[in-house]
Amino acid sequence: MPKNRVARLKSRPVGLVTRDNFDIESDELPGLEEGQILVKIQFVSLDPAMRGWLAEGKSYVEPVAVGDVMRSYSAGIVEESRHPDFAPGDAVAGMFGVQEYAIIDSRAALRVDTSLAPLERWIGGLGMPGVTAYFGLLDIGNPKEGETLVVSAASGAVGSIVGQIGKLKGLRVVGIAGGPEKCKYIVDELGFDAAVDYKAGNLRAALKEHCPDGVDIYFENVGGEITDTVMNLMNIGGRVPVCGMISVYNATEIPPGLKSIRSVLVNRLRVQGFIVFDFAKRYPEAVKALGEWHASGLLKMREDVRDGGVDAFPDVLNMLYSGENNGKLVLRV
Ligand SMILES: NC(=O)c1ccc[n+]([C@@H]2O[C@H](COP(=O)([O-])OP(=O)(O)OC[C@H]3O[C@@H](n4cnc5c(N)ncnc54)[C@H](OP(=O)(O)O)[C@@H]3O)[C@@H](O)[C@H]2O)c1
Repeated sequence: MPKNRVARLKSRPVGLVTRDNFDIESDELPGLEEGQILVKIQFVSLDPAMRGWLAEGKSYVEPVAVGDVMRSYSAGIVEESRHPDFAPGDAVAGMFGVQEYAIIDSRAALRVDTSLAPLERWIGGLGMPGVTAYFGLLDIGNPKEGETLVVSAASGAVGSIVGQIGKLKGLRVVGIAGGPEKCKYIVDELGFDAAVDYKAGNLRAALKEHCPDGVDIYFENVGGEITDTVMNLMNIGGRVPVCGMISVYNATEIPPGLKSIRSVLVNRLRVQGFIVFDFAKRYPEAVKALGEWHASGLLKMREDVRDGGVDAFPDVLNMLYSGENNGKLVLRV
């Protein structure tokens, strides 16, 4: 059996994660039991929620326990199998953790087709972030042709798919992103109607200019001041799918509350949080639709693949919170 490089939680972070929060070691791998498969992980998904999984307290999943392998979505190739449904060479994705090899019950592995898309895309646009975008916009956002959609973190894994599905559904789509390059990308490459650079300092005026009929759906990925600014531009009957709040995930004090709550009343907004797991039974529907749009060139996806292996995990994760990633952030292991 090969050695396995693995990241285990050593201590709970305060603020951004550091290398010291993890024990990163090489372990011996045990032999397989009946029904298990050995996966050589190739790509580990970096997701903003990982910071939440490290914190104690009530959340939508149990926190990663100190001493446990860091939880992550990953994709890899089966190297050994003791289950008749899997054979060496099969490509699979699942919650395999931040490590080079995973020995898992075969029921925890999802077979993926690398003839349709590269392996890393199955943990990106065709995986959890794509499915999040699909249900968040279509089920929670309830879009109607001709409406205006604003999405934040618009060039990222979820936001880029939200905006493109919005275009497919006949919406006017305005993305909020950090910096001119990301803004150019979502308009020129992804076909958004307009982009607003929130770092340029004139968010409200720019949104008003690009949303002349107001905002019907705000797909919330970031929280903080951006939320207040967009919420105050919403139309009566608007919807706000609350997908994420990345601006507060590393906060060491409780951040100030929403200043725009009056808009919820005055405009009769429907503000609804959701977690992608809520739609677990319907994942195949989303993957089918995303796959078809992708195959016909209607849905573009890009991954930002970083090298450095398991040892680089804490530093690469932090790129999400500084906005250094350009597309779905993935670590090659
Ligand atoms: N509800 C669910 O089930 C679910 C599932 C998946 C993801 N999510 C949420 O969806 C959101 C996006 O996740 P993702 O995987 O697609 O990440 P991503 O957008 O690919 O990467 C994160 C991006 O967030 C932006 N950002 C970071 N700090 C920010 C801040 N303080 N203010 C404004 N923007 C900031 C950065 O883009 P800029 O350079 O543009 O600032 C960064 O590139 C996250 O909030 C995540 O937690 C929720």
